[in-house]
Amino acid sequence: MIALEEDNKQNAKQLDSRYDGRLKVTGAAKYAAEFPVKDVVHGYIVQATIPSGTIASIDDSAATHASGVLAVMTPFNAPKVTPNDNVQVLQNTNILYNGQPVAVVVARSLPEAMHAATLLRITYNPTPARLDFDALLHEARDPKRGARTSQRGDLAAGFTKAAATVDETYTTPIQNHNPMEPHATIASWENGKLKVYDSTQGITGVRQNLEHAFGLQPNDVNVECPFVGGGFGCKGSVWSHVLLAAMSAKMVQKPVKIAITREQMFGPVGSRPNTRQHIRLAADSTGKLLATQHDVLMYTSMFADFVEGAANQTNMLYGSEALSTSHRLVELNLGMGTFQRAPGEATGTVGLEIALDELAEKLNMDPVQLRLANYSEEDPGKNLPWSSKHLRECYADAAERFNWARRKSTPQQVREGNKLIGYGMATATYGANRSNSTAIVRILPTGRVYVGCGTQDLGTGTYTIMAQAAAMALGIDPALVDVELGKSRLPRSGGSGGSQTAASVCPAVYQAALDAKQRLIDLARNDSASPLHLASADMVTSRDGVLFTKSFPTKSEPFAALLARSGAPIEATATAEPAKDRNSFSSHSWGAVFAEVAVDADTRMVHVRRVVGTYDIGTLMNKKTGINQLQGGIAWGISFALLEESHIDPTHGLIVNRNIAEYHVPVNADIGEIDVACLNIPDYRFSPLGARGIGEIGITGAAAAVANAIYNATGKRVRDFPITVDKLMA
Ligand code: MOS
Repeated sequence: MIALEEDNKQNAKQLDSRYDGRLKVTGAAKYAAEFPVKDVVHGYIVQATIPSGTIASIDDSAATHASGVLAVMTPFNAPKVTPNDNVQVLQNTNILYNGQPVAVVVARSLPEAMHAATLLRITYNPTPARLDFDALLHEARDPKRGARTSQRGDLAAGFTKAAATVDETYTTPIQNHNPMEPHATIASWENGKLKVYDSTQGITGVRQNLEHAFGLQPNDVNVECPFVGGGFGCKGSVWSHVLLAAMSAKMVQKPVKIAITREQMFGPVGSRPNTRQHIRLAADSTGKLLATQHDVLMYTSMFADFVEGAANQTNMLYGSEALSTSHRLVELNLGMGTFQRAPGEATGTVGLEIALDELAEKLNMDPVQLRLANYSEEDPGKNLPWSSKHLRECYADAAERFNWARRKSTPQQVREGNKLIGYGMATATYGANRSNSTAIVRILPTGRVYVGCGTQDLGTGTYTIMAQAAAMALGIDPALVDVELGKSRLPRSGGSGGSQTAASVCPAVYQAALDAKQRLIDLARNDSASPLHLASADMVTSRDGVLFTKSFPTKSEPFAALLARSGAPIEATATAEPAKDRNSFSSHSWGAVFAEVAVDADTRMVHVRRVVGTYDIGTLMNKKTGINQLQGGIAWGISFALLEESHIDPTHGLIVNRNIAEYHVPVNADIGEIDVACLNIPDYRFSPLGARGIGEIGITGAAAAVANAIYNATGKRVRDFPITVDKLMA
């Protein structure tokens, strides 16, 4: 078996282009809203205009008689369902946030549905709303599920002994997801069974949610999602529009499409919560952390808790002697918080990595040296060894490529014309996750190979690396592999969140392909017409689609020739589970990220000229898709630092900048050079292919590196994000 594994590694080939690249650039890739479902009609969600209270009445007489209208679904006539806790789907008249769905107008066309929506007369009984986070801080409470606190050592003793301390508060705003493709669902019923096209990060979760909501049997729901135009966490939950599409389709007895508008992305489909992070650090004169305290406050909705685990990385990243972390929630009448790229670490590294920059300055230490002084050789939170950690090499590699040695530790020392130049750095980290996945592999008499798995590709490269994993096990060109995913009828896989898909799906594909290959070898050995007839099983291997014996490589037969005689495909299904000993080690990905900014001395406009990052993410499965994930994460980190913020109207509780003209996301001109490298050191303890996942770590640390560079350039420490011109001028 070991020898076989070694052969397979030699067979590893990367696809130079994305598996789905051509389909996407030619427009042939179909997204959820684009499926040409026969007789489909259009649902438009009408949203509450108050943040708190109840619906008193809905007069829908004008709307129901408007052109093209088939139905107006309201809390007064909607089918009864059993939704998950995260959504309001017209089961009662309570209003918990401004923007909550209160009706769905279904019409022949979207313009007709939207027009009829304006004709609804809705009256409310408003109640006082909770909207002022700062004023309600004293009412912060523990999360309902999971304490999310940790404690070790004697904090007070650490502060007494300290040579230097930091005690600061860092705040990050509510942010909203803006994938290119907004959410969309087409739902249709046939003989009591439900079919949906949905843009989702988890077809299995959508299926289970719909089965639960409508009291259906397993497999009465069929979910398809071949392509996703970006997920980033907002498509990791089943939101109201999915259920509302299925409910209204039941009502009008026709397929219903609900495509969320860009404006509707802000509120009803989750937001990254704001954070208010109080951080206290105490260190001795060598920089060693004696005490670390990280207390996080954030908003949560009135109906379901979501914890942005911003202090989580603080438990494990550095070896602080004493430590205390907590997460507490302030209930507000806003839409629910949810996962957004690197939930926890993206915001948490902002606080922690700026606080370390402040500590380094007080100790007159280089920021990289300070991190090395606190390098954790094992997980200090869990007291477990790492499955693999090469963060030292990340610091060294990125620092050299960036030319960190040129940095002046005192701020405001480097000027080019009227530009203030600054350098900053931070550590990046994100947990490694795996879940059970099953895949099927079929070797066809044509010589091509089919791979199927009920996972989904968010645009990250899942198709591409599935093809590679199968090709590697079989010893064929990955271009000969046809991949099918995004169908709940396929063998089951988990959701694509928590950077887990590569490490969950590829081992299943790989194992199924190994099993199929074993069957192919057995077929040859038992086939008197094969040159491999009676060859000993452990001596047969494959390369370039040809089986051969290792002792006598000319004794060989192409897969296609062998299968042409039998005339039937060879097939195997395999399930891959997280490592059996997974509780005996701790697995995380690591990185070091360095930023150079140029700040206009007059206008204080910030330009991030250059970001250099080196990452230890285990095996880099595909250079193009993997590096692209990291580049995208870093671009978002720059955006986090400088641009993104959802503004809440303090009276009405509406997100006022709910469009991408006023909710700023970067364009190419905002992003300078991004230079990414991966160590590409496999973590075989964590997963058979050594990959740990790559989707989220890129954003972590990046915003702090930019913030630290801005301080180095200007001498102005902004602890309230985003770092805008007004704050730099103040
Ligand atoms: Mo990711 S925010 O866990 O989809």
